Amino acid sequence: MRILFADSYEDMSLEAAKLVAAEAWHNPQSIFGFATGDTPIGMYQCLVEIHQHFGIDFSQATSFNLDEYVGLAPDNPQSYHAFMQNHFFQYMNFRRECIHVPNGLAENIPEECAQYDKTIREAGGIDLQILGIGRNAHIGFNEPADGFTRGTHEVILKSSTIQANARFFSSVEDVPRRAISMGIGAIMQAKRIVLLASGSEKAEAVYKAVHGLVSSQAPASVLQFHPAVTLIVDKAAGAKLQ
Ligand code: F6R
Repeated sequence: MRILFADSYEDMSLEAAKLVAAEAWHNPQSIFGFATGDTPIGMYQCLVEIHQHFGIDFSQATSFNLDEYVGLAPDNPQSYHAFMQNHFFQYMNFRRECIHVPNGLAENIPEECAQYDKTIREAGGIDLQILGIGRNAHIGFNEPADGFTRGTHEVILKSSTIQANARFFSSVEDVPRRAISMGIGAIMQAKRIVLLASGSEKAEAVYKAVHGLVSSQAPASVLQFHPAVTLIVDKAAGAKLQ
């Protein structure tokens, strides 16, 4: 695992954006895996600026988001569809039909999950996957569990994740209890992975991801088995790294 120690959140965001821009420059038909949450917001802002100032083109690129809450419509402001639209896609030139986010309103969730995996496979798999990390070391919504789940699947969110995400909702009761998440399989099959972490509350999870025993109880630790992971941490998130 290659580790970049960034001086600040802004520095982490810019370094990550440069890797995404380089990928798009090198291969305009790149397949990106994107994450939501607080961590990548700065990276999306940098990418919007890079796109606008340097004209890096995403019109032939494809994107797959990691996850979506079950029960939230795409136009619900708390949905990950809306998050991506507001922070990123509205400013970029991805083609609408090349943007993929799991459908949280699907009537048949197992079918939606299987279709999502099929669409990723048919696109040729993910070239560059962006990940954040939960305080419990989840990636996507792959929560600590007795085993790794390979495919896209429905997840019952852990109470720690519900608490952590309550800041995006008016109350903790409003946080959906279920989500659809890409599995560890598609994440691990990505050609390159960029894992981002910022803030002291992520330091323990980052430590487990890098130095911990590989275990489904700390899902990010599986990244130790991937040949091309770049971890970008700010000082606080990287504080426990050796
Ligand atoms: C979101 C996702 C999650 C987040 C993680 C960290 O698409 O995949 O794994 O990356 O919960 O969230 P933040 O960045 O808000 O701390």
